[in-house]
Parts: sequence; C-alpha cells; structure tokens
Amino acid sequence: MKNLIAGNWKLKGSPDLADSYISHLSKTKPDNCTVVVCPTFDLLEYICDKWSSEFGHLGAQDCFHEDTNYNDGLRTPDEIVSKGTSYIILGHSDRRNKCHETSELVRKKVDLVWDKGLIPIVCVGEKSDERKQNLTQKIVNKQITESLDFDNLRGPFVIAYEPVWAIGSGNTPTMEEIGEVHDEIRKLLVDLTCPTRGHNIPLLYGGSADDQNAGSILSVENVNGLLIGGASLNIQKFGAIIECA
Ligand code: PGA
Repeated sequence: MKNLIAGNWKLKGSPDLADSYISHLSKTKPDNCTVVVCPTFDLLEYICDKWSSEFGHLGAQDCFHEDTNYNDGLRTPDEIVSKGTSYIILGHSDRRNKCHETSELVRKKVDLVWDKGLIPIVCVGEKSDERKQNLTQKIVNKQITESLDFDNLRGPFVIAYEPVWAIGSGNTPTMEEIGEVHDEIRKLLVDLTCPTRGHNIPLLYGGSADDQNAGSILSVENVNGLLIGGASLNIQKFGAIIECA
C-alpha cells in the first residue's frame, strides 16, 4: 500500500502556511504517497477553495459526536464534509488525556463520520508511566478494540500509533520499539477482521516524526505512514517527508 503522510496543524497554522502548501503541492503534485492535510476548521474554510485533488486530501481535527448543530464549539461532521474533507483525526491524545475523551466516545464519533463518508484516523498510544510499567501493548490494544465497533465496521479507517510522551517532545521510541508495537497492532487487526482486511489497514506512526527521522521510521515493517504535528507547520520539512515516502 502507498504510505499515508498526514499533517496535523492542531491549533497552529495560518493563511500564509496554507498558501505555502498550495504553492508547493501545485508544483510537486505528489503521487508517490497519499497526502492528508488537517488544518483548523477556520483554515479549512480558507484552504478548501484553493485545494485540488492533485495535492492530496483535506482532513479535519475532531468533531462533535452527535449529528446536531445544537452544541457549543465543536463542529459537526456535516460542516466538516462541506469543506471538502475526506479524513478526520479522532481520539488524539490531546482529546483523550486533556479533555478526558473515552474510547466509547471515540467509537460514537467513528460511527458518525462513517455515515458521512469520512475516513477516521484513530489515534492510540500509551503515556510515559504506562510504558515504564510495560503496559504499552495492553493500552494500545484496548484503545483500538474499544474505539471501533469491530462487529460492524461500516467504512475504512486508519490507525495512528502515537506514544503520548513522544508527541511534541523531540523523543521517539527506537525503530525496534516502533516495529514491535506496529507488528502487534497488525496481528490484532488481522484477528479482529480477516487477513485480507487486516493487512490493508494503514498504520501510521506519530510523535516527533520529522524530516530527519521520517526515512528510518517509514522503513520499519508495518509502518504505512506518519502523522506529523510540529514538522507539518513548515512546508519545506513536510515536503521533505513526502519525498521520503
Ligand atoms: P508532533 O505531533 O509531530 O509535534 O509530535 C504529532 C501529533 O500530535 O499528532
């Protein structure tokens, strides 16, 4: 499968950054990998008019878990789809840990966005103390099993393994450690679905991935792409990561 390179701008980014993406992607038109760019909703509104399918896909960050406009602050999947998106990041560690979002809530959102034709990028990952207690795989497997209804998978999805302690810290697990977790996730997905489906679900790594380490991480077996935070705020770095893929 092609690598998937997703940029998560979080609450950063600007019209200038959006313009630099448009200018770069209109020259390079990457087709070696699947590019997904996830700006804030306001910037989605700005970028969607200038976006072409030759650049890749637009994605969103999180959404409200019900199909109603009567909520305060969070965007509904309908609003998100209206901006030309095809992917959405769900269950990011900022949501799980800072906003106490449970896997049950993530599953509700996954079901809802499938109804709208979006592909969820479901994030999972252990905290530093959980890693020290050797609980990494237990936590990751539990989050995956509970965040998706495997008895009724109604659409495609992507899993992003993002150790919480690696996000924005400049630290990453070793390549062996990333490989071990991804191999186990692959086995779990094969068990929960079937070999054909399980082997074709993209598994991204995220957490301090950048233009310097992208090549090594992407060469690890069962890593099918990257979810990039900080380094996606610079099109030179993000462009170099696309090149690596
Ligand atoms: P980072 O963020 O690349 O800045 O570590 C990744 C993420 O939060 O998805």
